[in-house]
Amino acid sequence: MKIQTQAVHAGDRKKTAGHIPVTTPIHTATSYFYDSMEQLDRIFGQEEEGYCYARYDSPSAAALEELLCALECGHGALACASGMAAIQIAVTAALVDRPKSIVAADALYGATVGMLMKVLEPSGVAVRFADPTDLGALEAAVEEARPGCLLMETISNPLLRVGAVDRIAEMARRAGAVLVVDNTFATPMVARPLEWGADYSVHSLTKYLAGHGDVLAGAVITSQEHTANLRNLSRILGPVLGPFECYLTMRGIKTFPLRMERQCANACRVASWLSAHPKVERVYFTGDPAHPDAATIRRLFPQNLYGAMVSFELRGAGRAEVFRFMDALKLVVRATSLGDVHSMMLYPVMSSHREISPKHRLRMGIRDSLVRLSVGIEAAEDIVEDLEQALEKV
Ligand SMILES: Cc1ncc(COP(=O)(O)O)c(C=O)c1O
Repeated sequence: MKIQTQAVHAGDRKKTAGHIPVTTPIHTATSYFYDSMEQLDRIFGQEEEGYCYARYDSPSAAALEELLCALECGHGALACASGMAAIQIAVTAALVDRPKSIVAADALYGATVGMLMKVLEPSGVAVRFADPTDLGALEAAVEEARPGCLLMETISNPLLRVGAVDRIAEMARRAGAVLVVDNTFATPMVARPLEWGADYSVHSLTKYLAGHGDVLAGAVITSQEHTANLRNLSRILGPVLGPFECYLTMRGIKTFPLRMERQCANACRVASWLSAHPKVERVYFTGDPAHPDAATIRRLFPQNLYGAMVSFELRGAGRAEVFRFMDALKLVVRATSLGDVHSMMLYPVMSSHREISPKHRLRMGIRDSLVRLSVGIEAAEDIVEDLEQALEKV
């Protein structure tokens, strides 16, 4: 079945108390009652299917997890309280019985870098950064670091670089490491990392999948090989998503393919308009035929679906000019997130990559003149008109 159909149907219509609701209700119970201790014992021991405690599993989470598996061809999924909770449990699951060493992409979301440098490294995990778009350099780093885990984003935040996930998955396998891919920017419409050999695909569901700016959520989706390990760790650590958020996320996902198709098409129009604007120095967009990773994008991504993020540098701008430009926006929302129905703009230096030192940021290629636009579902000409009038103010 195609993803557009899965998004609408998967996970729903489970029998509850003798009836079958058309859509999944919000199950608020934290624990479950059985007629006999024998049965409760079997459920606790995972010998019989059933729910006993909401930190372990719940009907609301199970429905969403089934839906996520359908979207990304996974065997098991875990709905988490945030994207960061998802990344943390995926990396913990990856390292639990492997060498405590990570080779991470040198372009990652700021909080992911923070997790590596401020949490994992001080806890004794060796962390090394390498460029996933340079397979030679990555292989050298892997040979030297002998990692238990490789960590990357399908489309990197905020410069939108694309590594060859399939080749990196092979490299990880040869090295005895597992590959964790943050698929938030690409979404399952553009990329399904597990199909390319990745071990864990993680998401901030807060973004495109939920899509309406009203729920904070994350997910890990994995293969059969890693499902039991992931779920067993989750039973202990409890990064799980609450039933209300599960409901909102499932509701959002029903229209996710429709929204994503529109957002990708809008992003193509906005990016090509920006490229021709004299006040714009450089545009970063995965649909650009001159993108540095165009060959990988052509090989791996579906035609005409390149993602809906567009980053760009304002010519000769520093913080003051960027502030003036962003303050002048009337339609595009100045806010820290992405993937919502409305277009949003963020200043990476001030928000997503704020916690990274200016030196490290510059090494990552994130300059003070860079802004990041998440293109929404509005009419493309209205988005362009708003950018045009704001650029006049710079
Ligand atoms: C690529 C990426 N991964 C993970 C996260 C973290 O997600 P959350 O805010 O849901 O914890 C974000 C948040 O912006 C992100 O952009």
